[in-house]
Amino acid sequence: MTISKNLRDRLSDAESVCVLTGAGISAESGVPTFRGEQGLWKKFRPEELANVDAFMRNPDLVWEWYSYRRKVVSEVQPNPGHFAIVEMQNLIRDFTLVTQNVDNLHSRAGSRGVVELHGNITRNYCIRCRRPASEELVQKSDKVPVCSHCGGFIRPDVVWFGELLPPRAYEEAEDAASRCDLFLCVGTSGVVYPAASLPQMAKEHGAFVLEINAEYTDLSPRVSETLIGKAGEILPLLVRVMKEERHHEQT
Ligand code: OAD
Repeated sequence: MTISKNLRDRLSDAESVCVLTGAGISAESGVPTFRGEQGLWKKFRPEELANVDAFMRNPDLVWEWYSYRRKVVSEVQPNPGHFAIVEMQNLIRDFTLVTQNVDNLHSRAGSRGVVELHGNITRNYCIRCRRPASEELVQKSDKVPVCSHCGGFIRPDVVWFGELLPPRAYEEAEDAASRCDLFLCVGTSGVVYPAASLPQMAKEHGAFVLEINAEYTDLSPRVSETLIGKAGEILPLLVRVMKEERHHEQT
């Protein structure tokens, strides 16, 4: 893959970088994406599994689905794409990683201060008293566990359809998108809002918006440049270019 002179300059000059990731960055670790031929939403119906009414109607079914996904993510490892983002954070003074993923792989790779827009599947809490649930309580049952304090159902700490994003996380994401000079959207189909509005917001504030995806998406017509390929291959290449260019500047 060739990196244009323009992109090289952007990578070398960037002082404030915001990265938005989606399910595609974890695909190479073996976590299924949501859309596309092998996507989770081809086999399962979000309206039966990923909203609060479904949970109240059939908590055991929803719990089983999340237990399965929790198991999948616990058995996989972060890939070179996740690790490249950690390296990028080490190079850039003002760096924000915003993710739509709930799989915890960025934090496991070593990223710091990850802004989790859609929550994190490894955390759970009581729907009644909102206390966090212990790991032990979560692991022990195939059926939905109940809170040891108040008897309420325990649910995964993820954002379901129809729910608001955690306000603090979204504020942080908007701030980072508005002040960055380089915005990367990696492995997201860009169809779920409000996360999908962040690249546009960055562009309106003057950032160069680079998309990295296995295919063209709804975002592609609105970004500055799209690189087609695997995140686990392209991100390490971009970090290499960043390092080379920054090394030249110092010598
Ligand atoms: P999607 O499943 O919608 O999109 C995944 C994107 O990753 C697609 O555009 C693929 O082309 C791309 N992709 C796949 N493999 C890749 C690879 N190796 N390298 C680069 N790109 C690759 O996932 P999201 O955009 O994250 O919401 O979905 C957004 C939200 O929809 C999710 O957070 C989830 C879902 O419903 C909630 O759970 C609230």
